[in-house]
Amino acid sequence: PIAYPFVVAVDGPAGSGKSSVSKEAARRLGWGFLDTGAAYRALAWHAAASRVDTEDAASVVASLGSFDYRIGTDPYGYAVHVGGVDVTDAIREPSVTAIVSAVARVPEVRAHLIEVFRAIIAAEKREGIVVEGRDITTVVAPDAPVRILLTASEETRMARRSKELVGHSAEATGAQLQARDRADSKVVDFMNAAEGVTTVDSTDLDFDQTVQAVLDVIRDAQVRA
Ligand code: DC
Repeated sequence: PIAYPFVVAVDGPAGSGKSSVSKEAARRLGWGFLDTGAAYRALAWHAAASRVDTEDAASVVASLGSFDYRIGTDPYGYAVHVGGVDVTDAIREPSVTAIVSAVARVPEVRAHLIEVFRAIIAAEKREGIVVEGRDITTVVAPDAPVRILLTASEETRMARRSKELVGHSAEATGAQLQARDRADSKVVDFMNAAEGVTTVDSTDLDFDQTVQAVLDVIRDAQVRA
């Protein structure tokens, strides 16, 4: 019997493909999947819905008190609920993306969510769990047996993101991506691999090859374990 799931920590910038790649890797392994950015997005959605000024840290901290949310780890039926409302799609709206960095930089918010993520990881019933975000390899699960930094050139990340957001200009998408990475990097460094973290550069890889590269790193670690 396994007392604790095998943890795969994946960090990276916006548009690196870490969400879709991590989810697909979890599916192929039959493991759980946790998108930590979705929790920050859910809190941003909740704060906006409660008319909280997200630029005011004290108000954001206060909104944690009424933040009743549920985030699953099923890579097939991934859903996020806030107060019983399914916000899985709503948290991807540009209005949420625009305010999420302000919410994520509040230290009390991070301290709270880090504990929530650790509890979700500890409660995972599958053999392993792939956890993705910005500070998983360094803060949430620095002892994870597999730690990966998924990167791609800025040009590639912009191109991928503008393909996702049909109808938006490549320039506007690129500028938003850069602005968010700049804001988020001030809080945690996810552009450089910490010691012991394996970099997977997906610039010249397609989706399937990137998933395979991640699975290879996991398999190597399992062989060594
Ligand atoms: O991965 P994403 O774009 O859905 O993340 C949304 C925001 O949450 C992102 O702008 C930075 C923040 N975030 C964070 O600070 N720490 C994490 N572990 C995950 C996300």
